[in-house]
Amino acid sequence: MPTSVIGVKAIVVGASSGIGREITRQIADGGGLVVAIARRGDRLEELAALYPGRIFPMVQDVTDHDSIPNKFIEATDKLTGLNLFVYASGVMPEVGPQEFNIEKDQQMIDVNISGAVAWINQAALRMQGTKHGSIVAIGSVAGERGRWEQPVYNASKTFLHAYMEAVRNRVSRYGVHVVTIKPGPVQTEMTERLKLKNAMSAEAAAEKILGLRNRTGEHYLKFTHLIAFAIIRNIPSFLFRRLKI
Ligand SMILES: NC(=O)c1ccc[n+]([C@@H]2O[C@H](COP(=O)([O-])OP(=O)(O)OC[C@H]3O[C@@H](n4cnc5c(N)ncnc54)[C@H](OP(=O)(O)O)[C@@H]3O)[C@@H](O)[C@H]2O)c1
Repeated sequence: MPTSVIGVKAIVVGASSGIGREITRQIADGGGLVVAIARRGDRLEELAALYPGRIFPMVQDVTDHDSIPNKFIEATDKLTGLNLFVYASGVMPEVGPQEFNIEKDQQMIDVNISGAVAWINQAALRMQGTKHGSIVAIGSVAGERGRWEQPVYNASKTFLHAYMEAVRNRVSRYGVHVVTIKPGPVQTEMTERLKLKNAMSAEAAAEKILGLRNRTGEHYLKFTHLIAFAIIRNIPSFLFRRLKI
């Protein structure tokens, strides 16, 4: 059964597709309010039209860090309060097995790391003052090890996990929940070019994430991942290299 989202006043960054869109839709569907942020304003408007008065679209490119403090104030004013912040923006361009490409790498660093930090800093600053609320960031099981296929994507998620842990260690003492989600494969635009096995739907992922929003800590979306990644994290590096996973 879906978790109740009545009374939720949220900002979702990365709301135009995939997991972020579905989190936005489920909050609005359940009676909450959301400021939905991404670059593709047409997508946001389409979604907002389905839930009049519940979704407020806001166009922002997370790589434009200077605009974030004002956008944050604008968003909280629309909601007259804020009790949930979700950072779901992310990019994972295709990277060939022998490719090392700083342009693609920089894009991932700008969106998955710098954009996340710039937005989450604002949420943490506000919530440590108001002494309530939840900050949720979408990491990945990909951040658990340095896997050969996507060096910078993996490293960007490792960064996000460590940054979120540090934010948690700062602001949970003020009653703020700081939640890192580590999904496995989810069917979205990001992964449509991949042949994913056992991928979760964006709907199911969003429902689980909303259910975990007040559970401070790190969470996988499947119980089997808890066990599998406890093992994978502890495989010695020389062996991990040979496994090519
Ligand atoms: N799908 C998976 O298997 C999977 C697994 C683990 C973790 N994740 C993580 O889950 C999160 C959501 O991914 P998804 O699978 O839902 O992908 P998606 O459908 O491609 O959605 C990505 C979102 O990021 C936004 N975004 C990208 N660049 C942006 C920018 N410069 N400024 C603002 N927003 C930007 C996109 O909006 P615009 O393009 O409109 O700006 C879109 O809303 C990501 O952090 C991803 O790394 C995904």
